[in-house]
Amino acid sequence: MASPFEILGLDPSADDDEIIEAYRRRVKEVHPDQGGSKEAFTAVRDAYEQLMSGDVTTSGPAGPGEPGETGGPNATATRGGPRAQSTDEAQQIESHVEYLNYMVAEDNGWELGDENLFGKAARAGLSDEDHGEFTVLPHESLLEAAERRGFAWPFACRGGACTNCAVMVVEGDIPTPSWQILPEDLTDRGIRLSCNSAPVTPEAKIIYNVKHLPGVDELRLPATRFKKARSDD
Ligand code: FES
Repeated sequence: MASPFEILGLDPSADDDEIIEAYRRRVKEVHPDQGGSKEAFTAVRDAYEQLMSGDVTTSGPAGPGEPGETGGPNATATRGGPRAQSTDEAQQIESHVEYLNYMVAEDNGWELGDENLFGKAARAGLSDEDHGEFTVLPHESLLEAAERRGFAWPFACRGGACTNCAVMVVEGDIPTPSWQILPEDLTDRGIRLSCNSAPVTPEAKIIYNVKHLPGVDELRLPATRFKKARSDD
């Protein structure tokens, strides 16, 4: 079986930046929109998750006296920090989510850090598409929950690699899964990817459509590269 490094086309000495870069490249290459298959896409995603989580099983000759190094049948190498919690592991509950479209906040001159932001949205008579509430079911992502309600939230890769689906958490706890490319300064600001994230608290408030925020926009892969993408770019 190919190792995660082989699947991503990487040398085992690759650092985190090289892994992220390789993941974004491979997601584009194997995406079903680009003639790839769901299996290949999943394999790339799993390889990336494995490498970034620190649990790496590889094949090949083991170096003598190097237990835990890459190489050798079923050898295990450790890299990176503590394993991030995946959405599947974390989300076991149904969660009630209040959402607001970032573009509406911007058009109205509302600050994202305003404590009354959602109160202002509630009083503004916005459409259901721009502000409202829905339920995220167990093992469903935010994006899937929005789509089940008939909303057209932005997305492109659906693999945690393009940031077109970025949202900002205002209230509640939404863990960061390991198969995504957001740097720590963005996750610290509450940025998550709706294609692979979901709340683990009964209630949450989020701002969606934040793909053009500074820091997020710079990471974005143009949605035009994905046939089934939905993004205004
Ligand atoms: Fe690409 Fe979510 S990161 S759609």
